[in-house]
Amino acid sequence: QSGSADALKRAVAEAALEHVRAGEVLGVGTGSTANFFIEGLAAIKGRVQAAVASSEATRQRLEAIGIEVVDLNQVDHIGVYVDGADEINAALEMIKGGGGALTREKIVASLAERFVCIADESKWVEKLGRFPLPIEVIPMARSLIARELVKMGGSPVYRTGFVTDNGNVILDTYGLDIINPVELETRLNNLVGVVTNGLFARRPADVLLLGGAGGVRTIT
Ligand code: A5P
Repeated sequence: QSGSADALKRAVAEAALEHVRAGEVLGVGTGSTANFFIEGLAAIKGRVQAAVASSEATRQRLEAIGIEVVDLNQVDHIGVYVDGADEINAALEMIKGGGGALTREKIVASLAERFVCIADESKWVEKLGRFPLPIEVIPMARSLIARELVKMGGSPVYRTGFVTDNGNVILDTYGLDIINPVELETRLNNLVGVVTNGLFARRPADVLLLGGAGGVRTIT
């Protein structure tokens, strides 16, 4: 990725630090933008009581800067969840899972009072779906689900050599016509063998910090 994209990611990550409130459990996402956020957290870690990580990679990074990472089963409330996205639209609906952490991300986000998405402007789309939709499936159901996706007009590609933190596989699915993200998210979840799909529409972000040439815009 270009240096300027990194500068935008760094800028939105910095802006997200203002959303971290003292005394709350913090949810932390996965990916290159989330990694800049973790770097920034080092400076304000006194404000972070504890964090829940959306992946093993994020857990390791948080622990490396001295933030206590707790198991989700130990908390019943998360103040804010901060994470990137692969695509986001004006309704703040997202496609996520490019890094393969979609299931844990969706679980942690579901418990958060506020979801702050941090993204550079390359992620902003009018309609979701140019980015192939990641779908996490139980390994034995991979071909079954792939055939169902083809019937729905999709072209699933098995992410070879990749196993999720949960021991499952990913089908990156091209060509789905995402007219109604909420409806498609539900429909895909109902296929037996699907663990999670990368549409975050039933629970969209609450705030988007979008980085562009003109600075960071806050979209709610
Ligand atoms: C991880 O599984 C994804 O949902 C990430 O949030 C997404 O891929 C964004 O990553 P970048 O910040 O690296 O673009």
